[in-house]
Amino acid sequence: MTPTLSPSRVLVTGGAGFIGSAVVRRLIREGRVRVLNLDALTYAANLAAVENAVFSPHYAFLKADIADREAVRRAFAEFRPEAVMNLAAETHVDRSIDDPLAFVRTNVLGTATLLHEALGYWRSLEAEARARFRFLHVSTDEVFGALGEEGAFTEESPYRPNSPYAASKAGADHLARAFHRTYGLPVLVSNCSNNYGPWQFWEKLIPLMTIKALRGEALPVYGQGLQVRDWLHVEDHAEALWTILTRGRPGETYLVGGGEESRNIDTVRLICDLVDELAGPDPAGPRRRLITFVPDRPGHDHRYAIDCGKIARELGWRAARRSFADGLRETVAWYIAHRPWWEEGMRSRYDGARLGLGAAAR
Ligand SMILES: NC(=O)c1ccc[n+]([C@@H]2O[C@H](COP(=O)([O-])OP(=O)(O)OC[C@H]3O[C@@H](n4cnc5c(N)ncnc54)[C@H](O)[C@@H]3O)[C@@H](O)[C@H]2O)c1
Repeated sequence: MTPTLSPSRVLVTGGAGFIGSAVVRRLIREGRVRVLNLDALTYAANLAAVENAVFSPHYAFLKADIADREAVRRAFAEFRPEAVMNLAAETHVDRSIDDPLAFVRTNVLGTATLLHEALGYWRSLEAEARARFRFLHVSTDEVFGALGEEGAFTEESPYRPNSPYAASKAGADHLARAFHRTYGLPVLVSNCSNNYGPWQFWEKLIPLMTIKALRGEALPVYGQGLQVRDWLHVEDHAEALWTILTRGRPGETYLVGGGEESRNIDTVRLICDLVDELAGPDPAGPRRRLITFVPDRPGHDHRYAIDCGKIARELGWRAARRSFADGLRETVAWYIAHRPWWEEGMRSRYDGARLGLGAAAR
C-alpha cells in the first residue's frame, strides 16, 4: 500500500461548485491544509457555499478559467501546490445537449490545459516534492454509459458515453490517464455516481423537484421516471476524494458510489412526501399530485450503479454518512431553510425551465 500523504497546499478547481465547495469545506476543516480555490464563477457557482472558509487564513480564491493557460500557469507558480483536485467542469447533461461545445471547451480543453501546466510545474520540482505531488481528476460514472437491470460498473468497465457531457468527461479522463502513462505525472482518476446534498444547483433532479414542489409547480419527470440512479451524499464524496488523493496509487482509477439505488419516480415521490411533512401540507392536496410525465431526455441512460469494492478494499473508504432516506430528508430541509438563496437565483440565473431538448444545438 502506498504511504498516506498529507499535502499542505491543495489547488482545488471548481471549488465554488456543488462538490468542489464540499471539498473546500472538508479541507479547511482539516485545519492545516492551505487551499487555493480556482473557479471561473459560471452560472453554477455559489461562493456562499464556501463562506465560512473565507474567514480562514488557510483559504484563498482566484477567479480564473482552467482553459486559460497563462492564468493556470501563474496559479501554479505562485501557489506552489503539492496536490491538485480538478472539479471544475460543465456538469449538466441537459445543457450539454443544447450546447455541446461549451462542454468540450471546459471539460476537455480545460482539463488538458490544467494537466499540461501541472506537468510543467511538476517537472520543475525537486525529486522529493515530485514524488509526493498528486493530480486527482474528478469524474463521473456516466462515462461508462448505461446499465441494464443487473450488474454494476467497475474500474474495468469500458467507456461508452452517451451524452455530450459524458463524452466530454470521458475525453478528460483519457487525457488524465495519458498524462500519467506518457509523462509519469502522478495522476489519479475517480468516477462517482450521482451526488446530492446542500448547495446543489437547482437544474439537477433533487433540488429542482424540491423547489418546484415548494412553489406548487408541476414536477416534470422525464419519460416514466424509471431510470435508476445510485445516490451518494456529497460529504461522503468529499471524504472519498480526500482518501483517494492521500492514499490512492498514481495511475489508478477508483469508482465511488453510495450503493443506494432509486428510480427517479420513487425519488420524486419521496421528495413530495418530505415537502408535505417538513414544509406543511398544501391546502390544494398532497404534492404527489404535481407529478407530470414529460418527453424523455434524448439518449437518457437507463441505469447507473457502482461496485465500490476497489476503494473499500484498497483504501478503506465506505459511504458512511447516512442512508439516502435520511440524507434526502436533511437535504429537503436544507432547501426549505435556504429559500431566499434559490429564489433570488431563480430570478437572476435559471428559472427552472425545461432544458436539453436539443433545440439549440446546431
Ligand atoms: N454532481 C454530480 O452528481 C457528480 C457526480 C460525479 C462526478 N461529478 C463531477 O464532479 C465535478 C464537480 O461537479 P459539480 O456537481 O460540483 O459541478 P457544478 O456544476 O456544481 O460546479 C462546477 C464548478 O466549476 C466551475 N467551472 C466551470 N467551468 C469552469 C472553467 N472553465 N474554469 C474554472 N471553473 C469552472 C463553475 O463555476 C462551478 O463552480 C465535475 O467534474 C463533475 O463531472 C459530479
